[in-house]
Amino acid sequence: MAILRNAIALFVLLYCLVSCSCVLGRPATFLEDFKVTWSDAHLRQIEGGRAIQLVLDQNSGCGFASKRQYLFGRVSMKIKLVPGDSAGTVTAFYMNSNTENVRDELDFEFLGNRTGQPYTVQTNIYANGKGDREQRVNLWFDPAADYHLYTILWNHHHIVFYVDDVPIRVYKNSGRAPFPMNQPMGVYSTLWEADDWATRGGLEKIDWSKAPFYAYYRDFDIEGCPVPGPANCASNPGNWWEANNYQALTAMEARRYRWVRLNHMIYDYCTDKSRYPVPPPECLAGI
Ligand SMILES: *[C@@H]1O[C@H](CO)[C@@H](O)[C@H](O)[C@H]1NC(C)=O
Repeated sequence: MAILRNAIALFVLLYCLVSCSCVLGRPATFLEDFKVTWSDAHLRQIEGGRAIQLVLDQNSGCGFASKRQYLFGRVSMKIKLVPGDSAGTVTAFYMNSNTENVRDELDFEFLGNRTGQPYTVQTNIYANGKGDREQRVNLWFDPAADYHLYTILWNHHHIVFYVDDVPIRVYKNSGRAPFPMNQPMGVYSTLWEADDWATRGGLEKIDWSKAPFYAYYRDFDIEGCPVPGPANCASNPGNWWEANNYQALTAMEARRYRWVRLNHMIYDYCTDKSRYPVPPPECLAGI
């Protein structure tokens, strides 16, 4: 009996080691995967460290970053944005390779607005040092009333930005344009003041009489190949985020994506003739 129990225990242990060696799950607390990178005094842990509050006041904004970098995977968190008069504030959630000249970066930026006016989500993608790929959508709900889930999926086939499981952006690895393939990226977030450009192109300024401004985060989830880590992790086709279902949008996702583009997209660099008389090659790649 004891031998059997030991054998089972050993099997479970080995199974965990094999299946968990390069795939990370949801951390119990913020500090397990992240560290504060900008103004400790403006970032408070709440709910026993399972959630955090970011503060922006006239002295400072704040930010945090993952302790590790990752090569491919899926990163998500629930965010509740600054409510009411948030004009001029920007809350960002992004991945970045921290390699200036050949930077890879995947950005969610939430641009605040005057009370009652819609928040805008701007996404951007840098590949091999080149960005300038902005798209903007207006959210179909009030993102400050409640937590919503924001996700970046990055595998060998495409990069997808999701809002509550609705794809709002797809960047295919089509071979037509650079695609982040070799550089690991960290996970970052900041809340800061950007009233020189954020709201109506900078026309709407921050109303500091409404400060401090608060944003909330919870349910941090990073599943990917940590770097440094097992060298063969990133190229392993057995990683769940590389599976069939994740290589292209499902039929349901494609429907939702078209719905967003038809009803909620307010800017797309691909169709901005003043910036790009000829659409950049990735714009013709489809989904
Ligand atoms: C803010 O609201 C105005 C008016 O509805 C809208 O034109 C704009 O796109 C909104 N978002 C930003 C970031 O300016």
